[in-house]
Amino acid sequence: MSLKEDPGAGLLLCLGLGPPEAAACLHAACFPDEPWPAADLTVFTRTPGALAWHLTARPVAGKQALYALLLARAAGDEAEVLTLAVERASRRKGLATLLMNTLIQTLWRRKGRVLFLELARNNGSAETLYKRLGFRQVGTRQGYYRNGEDALLMSRSVAGNELFDSFYPNLTT
Ligand SMILES: CC(C)(COP(=O)(O)OP(=O)(O)OC[C@H]1O[C@@H](n2cnc3c(N)ncnc32)[C@H](O)[C@@H]1OP(=O)(O)O)[C@@H](O)C(=O)NCCC(=O)NCCS
Repeated sequence: MSLKEDPGAGLLLCLGLGPPEAAACLHAACFPDEPWPAADLTVFTRTPGALAWHLTARPVAGKQALYALLLARAAGDEAEVLTLAVERASRRKGLATLLMNTLIQTLWRRKGRVLFLELARNNGSAETLYKRLGFRQVGTRQGYYRNGEDALLMSRSVAGNELFDSFYPNLTT
């Protein structure tokens, strides 16, 4: 079930992986060369520093759809995005932006300093998304992916984000 098939679906932003099998399916559909088994995803969410959110909607005929997923890991004042996946039919609706901003806001509240991520050199859509979110390329990892593709390493600062300061002036962290 996609947002196109059920445009009235109220989206829920939820903490955690969501149903592991659905998360693995979504990940495999988005990264066919690098599928992650449901068991590995589950183990990841139990590791120290793991952060995960997913976007879902009310179950239809007992089935829980997963529209988007973000996994990240924090260590000290640094963090990295491990995966970001949005179901194909639900793209260009701001779901990835919502998940990324949720992560950045969470890190900011925890006094995080910097956020890193990698993406395939040929992934123009993700590069546009990340640049729009303030990421800049800080390196290249040659032959990083299983298919031999290079990875671009990007980062952005989390600390001192005036945007969040103005949204959440009374937050105690
Ligand atoms: C990359 C991806 C996560 C984007 O998800 P999304 O929910 O469609 O992204 P958003 O709707 O938040 O897009 C925000 C902005 O990013 C840019 N963008 C996103 N997808 C784009 C595309 N296919 N082409 C050009 N720009 C794109 C646009 O500037 C977009 O704003 P706009 O729609 O107002 O023009 C999604 O396409 C995806 O899951 N791809 C496969 C997996 C992947 O590549 N993950 C990221 C690599 S780690």
